[in-house]
Amino acid sequence: MNILLLGSGGREHALAWKISQSNKISKLFIAPGNAGTSEFGENIELNLSDFKAIKNLTIEKEIEMVIVGPEQPLVDGISDYFLNDKDLKAIPVIGPVKAGAILEGSKDFAKTFMSKYGIPTAGYKSFTKNNIDNGKAFLEELSAPYVLKADGLAAGKGVLILDDLEEAKSALEEMLNGQFGKASNTVVIEEFLSGIELSVFAVTDGKSYKILPEAKDYKRIGEGDTGLNTGGMGAVSPVPFADKEFMDKVEKRIVKPTIDGLVNEKINYKGFVFFGLINVGGDPWVIEYNVRMGDPEAEVVIPRIESDIVELFVHIKNETLEEANIEFSKNACATVMMVSGGYPGEYSKGKQIEIPEINDSIIFHAGTRRNDSGIVTAGGRVIAVSSMGENIFDALDKSYKNAGLINFEDKYYRNDIGFDLKYKG
Ligand code: AMP
Ligand code: GLY
Repeated sequence: MNILLLGSGGREHALAWKISQSNKISKLFIAPGNAGTSEFGENIELNLSDFKAIKNLTIEKEIEMVIVGPEQPLVDGISDYFLNDKDLKAIPVIGPVKAGAILEGSKDFAKTFMSKYGIPTAGYKSFTKNNIDNGKAFLEELSAPYVLKADGLAAGKGVLILDDLEEAKSALEEMLNGQFGKASNTVVIEEFLSGIELSVFAVTDGKSYKILPEAKDYKRIGEGDTGLNTGGMGAVSPVPFADKEFMDKVEKRIVKPTIDGLVNEKINYKGFVFFGLINVGGDPWVIEYNVRMGDPEAEVVIPRIESDIVELFVHIKNETLEEANIEFSKNACATVMMVSGGYPGEYSKGKQIEIPEINDSIIFHAGTRRNDSGIVTAGGRVIAVSSMGENIFDALDKSYKNAGLINFEDKYYRNDIGFDLKYKG
């Protein structure tokens, strides 16, 4: 089977690595890909918002399945585009249609969906410019910290958590006045939940689902979870506190009602569902939905999948997921993200990267590209060093040893991934 994988980050390198291990694969194309993905298939330079270009590529390369890595093309309707095109409709896309992707594309929609299906999430109200005064009054009813969220996609930056009521009111004004462009035309204000976050993943064929290994990511740039938010500085899987009892609650209270809700809404959802959860005193609550794999969570979840991932995608396409037999490694996986100095603020690109031969980690590229002199940095997050181990700390030791061996100017990584889990099992 010829497969086209869309995206260019560490998540896509992990997917390409896994897809290439399948005996069902003939040719793999990655658009646009990075220096790492080109080891497993052919990179094709392409703008993911140009659906016509994706169509032409699909036909020219005789693509038989499309896997979508990031959220934007899903929210923009790439799956609908295929289903509505006579030349493309027989080609399955792994990734939900627009009506499903809106679970990530609109926080207001996600909250309404969760309320309708009784899925535990923080209490909330949504506001626009027309009822900004009600928004301020709602803030007065809540207590600090105040959580304000841009409704739409804002490149991971659309959530503000503020301690001061007056600051929260001005933030609401700024957001509704276009701070995040159209994404903040509507603002969701919600109650603050206190606990430890984790990411749970499922795949669904639109009827049934399978839960994948959970993970925990580390979003802040600084050690001890301080400083600015990033795309993710590292991740571990499994998550020690996500024991059977907790995961049973996640399935019963969150995963199953979500999938049943999608079925009830007649939403044709074929792909990954990412549940951003928070553990509040032993009970899981939903912070957000995403409609794709996480990054860097993919770099620790995918290595723990032992069975053939293309077979899994075929089950999703055929709506036979219930019969699928997915096997997971009992071993742990951890990843440490190496980033460009300055990230998530300004940073420079084009720095030469030296990667020695490494046998006890998997080196997933994120922001890298090839030029005449070798591999150079091309983004803020540069390389995810993933390792398997008996437990997450054993895995982290290997990732840290190898992150020390990979060099580029101004490299930075957090030295404390997993720190908060150390004394809790
Ligand atoms: P989101 O983009 O929805 O994942 O939000 C970004 C981050 O804000 C989350 O990862 C949480 O750390 C935090 N956050 C969002 N909503 C809440 C909430 N209701 N209570 C506490 N923290 C939250
Ligand atoms: N690591 C969080 C995300 O992929 O959104």
